[in-house]
Amino acid sequence: MKRRTLLVGGGAAVLAGGALAGSFAMTGSAADYARAMETLRAPLGGGPDLDGVIRYATLAANGHNTQPWRFHASGQTIRISPDLSRRTPAVDPDDHHLYASLGCAAENLALAAAARGLSGNPRFDPASNAVVFDYRTGAGQPSPLCDAIPKRQSTRADFDGRLVSTTDLSALERAAQVPDVSLVLFADRASIDRVRDLIIAGNTAQMADKTFLAELKSWIRFNPNAALQRGDGLFSASSGNPALPGWLAGPMFDLAFTADAENKKYIGQLDTSAGVAVFIGARADPASWFAVGRACQRFALQATALGLKCSFVNQPVEVASFRPELATLVGMPGQRPDIVMHYGYGPNLPMSPRRPVADVIDT
Ligand SMILES: Cc1cc2nc3c(=O)[nH]c(=O)nc-3n(C[C@H](O)[C@H](O)[C@H](O)COP(=O)(O)O)c2cc1C
Repeated sequence: MKRRTLLVGGGAAVLAGGALAGSFAMTGSAADYARAMETLRAPLGGGPDLDGVIRYATLAANGHNTQPWRFHASGQTIRISPDLSRRTPAVDPDDHHLYASLGCAAENLALAAAARGLSGNPRFDPASNAVVFDYRTGAGQPSPLCDAIPKRQSTRADFDGRLVSTTDLSALERAAQVPDVSLVLFADRASIDRVRDLIIAGNTAQMADKTFLAELKSWIRFNPNAALQRGDGLFSASSGNPALPGWLAGPMFDLAFTADAENKKYIGQLDTSAGVAVFIGARADPASWFAVGRACQRFALQATALGLKCSFVNQPVEVASFRPELATLVGMPGQRPDIVMHYGYGPNLPMSPRRPVADVIDT
């Protein structure tokens, strides 16, 4: 396993707490939404509870919240296959995020199964392009990472600028250890600023790309009703944006979703972060992207267990022309960086939706 960590401490000013999801008023549908999210994130049931274990798997991070997975349980095996009808070709033309998302789900699956006494180690099967989780009963244990599954979220908000202790940074590093995945942590302001500038450059390029914007818009759910009905996509309140009625949402998006406005948000989010994490897999193939997904999900769960928030800022890996500069910045020239996250202390935003478990299980 190759593993590098760059850690430069200190230097960050404590910045004032940032924006919250202020506009998510508790209207009738917002209250319905909040109730549905509680049910979705209810604790696991007793016994093996395979439905609960799969429900926990679906709570994993996944690109654009497309939930690109199908689950199939048979004997002592659960398979997770890619749902290619949920690809996002504009932002993810080679399905990198799709396979990383399967890794995130597999990690949750293994942690939740262990908490129910079903132990195993998920693996990626290149022949079928699917995840295979063979488990045995009577082993496995609950863990703080499993407890964090229903609480974790991608928090797209300003953080409060507080630094993270070296003890907690070590815990994050340890949690994210997955074979063949390197993690580079930046906690010094100069390096965070350099990553931020790449994020802004990548975001500016994406915002000028009509196909990217059209795809993104198709996955935004602008109000609680739409989020509940579809059970997928990017719920606007989960990104700190106002809920909008369907008729207003499209025009408002076209008007307000500008490169300048989005860049300002990212500057605020990065400038108030405690650090940045970059994950680099050993190879550029689905098995490696699956491993990266496992590592970043474990990182996010450990962050959650420590009371930290984190979110993905993948523009410099999504826009291929920025990858070499990021690879050089993390000290791994020639490699393909896979995932960029920022972390720190921040607010709770409304949780993002999921489809019912029954909709993602094949019998
Ligand atoms: C591989 C991958 C790439 C992602 N890229 C981004 C990103 O660039 N920007 C972002 O805001 N969220 C990104 N996300 C986060 C997803 O949008 C988020 O996980 C999904 O909407 C579900 O929300 P949750 O994480 O709060 O449960 C990514 C997630 C994964 C797994």
